[in-house]
Amino acid sequence: MPALVLLGAQWGDEGKGKATDLLGGSVDYVVRYQGGNNAGHTVVVGDQKYALHLLPSGILSPGCTPVIGNGVVVDPSVLLSELSGLNERGVDTSKLLISGNAHIITPYNVTVDKVTERFLGKRKIGTTGRGIGPTYADKINRVGIRVQDLYDESILTQKVEAALDAKNQILTKLYNRRAIAVEQVVEELLGYAEKIKPYVADTVLVLNQALEDDKVVLFEGGQGTLLDIDHGTYPFVTSSNPTAGGACTGAGVGPTKISRVIGILKAYTTRVGAGPFPTELFDEDGEALRRIGGERGVTTGRDRRCGWFDAVIARYATRVNGLTDFFLTKLDVLTGWEQIPVCVAYEIDGKRVEELPYSQTDFHHAKPVYEMLPGWSEDISKAKSFSDLPKNAQAYVKALEEMSGAPISAIGVGPGRDETIEINSFL
Ligand code: IMP
Repeated sequence: MPALVLLGAQWGDEGKGKATDLLGGSVDYVVRYQGGNNAGHTVVVGDQKYALHLLPSGILSPGCTPVIGNGVVVDPSVLLSELSGLNERGVDTSKLLISGNAHIITPYNVTVDKVTERFLGKRKIGTTGRGIGPTYADKINRVGIRVQDLYDESILTQKVEAALDAKNQILTKLYNRRAIAVEQVVEELLGYAEKIKPYVADTVLVLNQALEDDKVVLFEGGQGTLLDIDHGTYPFVTSSNPTAGGACTGAGVGPTKISRVIGILKAYTTRVGAGPFPTELFDEDGEALRRIGGERGVTTGRDRRCGWFDAVIARYATRVNGLTDFFLTKLDVLTGWEQIPVCVAYEIDGKRVEELPYSQTDFHHAKPVYEMLPGWSEDISKAKSFSDLPKNAQAYVKALEEMSGAPISAIGVGPGRDETIEINSFL
């Protein structure tokens, strides 16, 4: 049963870093399959806190091989600075493998991301400004630059020329910006080539061989289900597939290899950037969740929008990902509320709706239907087993499990590595 997928069941930032890291010790490979340095994992090891954006969180577990799959978009400057930051803190990063087919976030794609957002004005997506969308657009338009292109100067130059031909027209004529010189981009990219070379590998082959050898491979999704380009709240989404199928295309493994799909689910809900969010709070409860939960983006430093738990979304995540388990995070943040509202359905134009509406218009009009669950006031951060939790916290977890459609197999009760209750083992 060696291949597991771990992904966000909501709008990202569910605490995946902690879950991956918890498994890291028993996992041979941790693979990122989509996204880029728009992600932000905070991992706490002992008294050390690490913020990772691009690198798989398994990089912090000795014995584990971290892999950046073909579906990821790589900003080489971010990659190198993240690596040297870890090296300075004594972390060995030499086992990292990067797919030669992964696409490169070029400096012009960072520029395009920023200027298009500015151009959209109040209709903006609220992207992280890291060049993610334009890089995936180039990939689909077949004018992308891949990691392997860094090792053939002539091909690289031709490809950058092809990409900049159209982009410079748009930058100068539409956005009123200066044109970007091909030579400058090529020179910058070539400057990264030798430093990245030791990590470049045929990751599809490596991973499939590892699976044949019964090694444990963990696929780690960035962002979350509702930010998926196909299954999320389009157009307020990221430009890749964080959902489970993305692991197959973004790493080159067949769906028959995947035995377990674990959804990370926060005990309440957050999102960053624009887009619909039925349970969003604009009152002191929202402020309290933000403060107690430390809900500020690891990547952008933006405050996250906060709201109550939404079971409609959790059910949807179970379905589109074929979830086998949930890892419920940040239960401790809810300590102290007398009653905790949980959204069990939506009301749309006067009708009760149990499932996520497929129409964007309906979703924008969805009002949460709440059920009130009794809260608890006891400190739960020392709880080691489910029965250590106060009765009302147990009932909250059980209610969420019932509504969400998959067993809750682990519960996070604090930010530290050991502040987790394991109910069913993931391995
Ligand atoms: P992009 O991925 O930078 O193109 O941004 C598209 C949308 O996804 C924006 O709403 C971002 O705030 C959101 N987003 C991107 N990465 C993350 C993440 O790791 N956590 C939460 N939201 C994210």
